[in-house]
Amino acid sequence: MTEPASVARIVVLVSGSGSNLQALLDATVDPAYGARVVAVGADRDGIAGLDRAAAAGVPSFVERVKDHPTRADWDAALTKQVAAYRPDLVISAGFLKLVGPEFLAAFGDRYLNTHNTLLPAFPGIHGPRDALAYGVKITGATLFFVDAGMDTGPIVAQVAVPVLDDDDEETLTERIKSAERRQLVEQVGRLVREGWTITGRKVTVP
Ligand code: GRF
Repeated sequence: MTEPASVARIVVLVSGSGSNLQALLDATVDPAYGARVVAVGADRDGIAGLDRAAAAGVPSFVERVKDHPTRADWDAALTKQVAAYRPDLVISAGFLKLVGPEFLAAFGDRYLNTHNTLLPAFPGIHGPRDALAYGVKITGATLFFVDAGMDTGPIVAQVAVPVLDDDDEETLTERIKSAERRQLVEQVGRLVREGWTITGRKVTVP
């Protein structure tokens, strides 16, 4: 069982627009939410996610894979950066890198990712495109604890989103993202306020 502090400390990792990050920044303004974003980390410069952190007065850092001799060195550096903020929860919100063993050893029971399909269908970075190409009628978003696989960890929550006949990748992606942001805010709040247990593949919130 991971017991949340009175106000849980969250580090959010991003690689892009950071709309999920923004939803968390907005929610955490309310002290009753039970958490605050103490830092934002990225794997690249020049992204809107970092601008959103700055606008909210939240410290940020960038660890680029190419600045390290090996992927393991990058993983160690990322782990150190995140650990410095003593997070109760780390959230990958559109972070386009798989972390390595050192990061998972440090944060494996408290590292969440949000994915834009109903896992285990359509893992990877082109989820909505793959769902559309397959012709499914329902897709959605999945919040899960990250393990060593790609989009394979224990699931916290899922939300279903319809695929409409005239959808293209962009319209479907945006419909999923609206539901995904609501789910993220709701579920992260629940986790930090109530705690959680991970037993095998099963996540339980008391
Ligand atoms: C989310 O839909 C997430 O599922 C996917 O990338 C998107 C990130 O969006 N992996 P944003 O950067 O939070 O706007």
